Amino acid sequence: MKAKASSSAKQKQVKSKSRVRDRGEVFTAEREVNNILALTQATSNRYWRFLEPACGNGNFLEAILRQRLDHLKQDKIEWHKKNREFSVLKVLSTIYGVDIAEDNISECKKRLQGVIFDYLPKKSSKEFLLAMNAIMETNLIVGDMLNGKDKVFFTEYSTPAKGLFKRRVYALTDMEAGIDKAIKDYPTVSYKEMRNGE
Ligand SMILES: C[S@@+](CC[C@H](N)C(=O)[O-])C[C@H]1O[C@@H](n2cnc3c(N)ncnc32)[C@H](O)[C@@H]1O
Repeated sequence: MKAKASSSAKQKQVKSKSRVRDRGEVFTAEREVNNILALTQATSNRYWRFLEPACGNGNFLEAILRQRLDHLKQDKIEWHKKNREFSVLKVLSTIYGVDIAEDNISECKKRLQGVIFDYLPKKSSKEFLLAMNAIMETNLIVGDMLNGKDKVFFTEYSTPAKGLFKRRVYALTDMEAGIDKAIKDYPTVSYKEMRNGE
């Protein structure tokens, strides 16, 4: 299936004057997103972790996910029917976004979900949908990256073998202090059993 162009061109750049004034909320247009990404290595390795600390409603995250899934589709093994769902989840699990505005994060989740369904047009398994939601819950979060860092936590997803995820949760304040210590360590699970917080 041909990948759809990013839908961000249709996204408004400004929601309201008060949001621009209070939070500097002006979203980046699609052309600038693509130009900026072309200058970075954000998409050169589809499994490098990418965090956007003020992600808005996901202009950059959507473009990165699309580009990474485009690369993934070229990989015959990863895109093989039996591996595809896990491969898509693995890519999704590398993408992180934080924003102070709850509505932005919920729009961002919907946009990334829309991208995934563009690439997986057939009905996905129930287990895949639950795992996808679990990853989105941990990776796309409402938070204050200036004055509320002590309440921001990131889940690291690693993949010890095909089909399996290991999750470790880290506090942002520890990460910034160079403390490499997980505050929570989940047992390794098949993606088919992965649920939010379990
Ligand atoms: C200039 S917009 C950029 C949004 C997005 N990165 C883009 O390029 O389209 C800035 C974003 O930062 C968010 N923001 C403002 N203060 C923040 C804070 N203290 N912590 C996290 N996000 C914040 C706003 O809600 C807004 O979505």
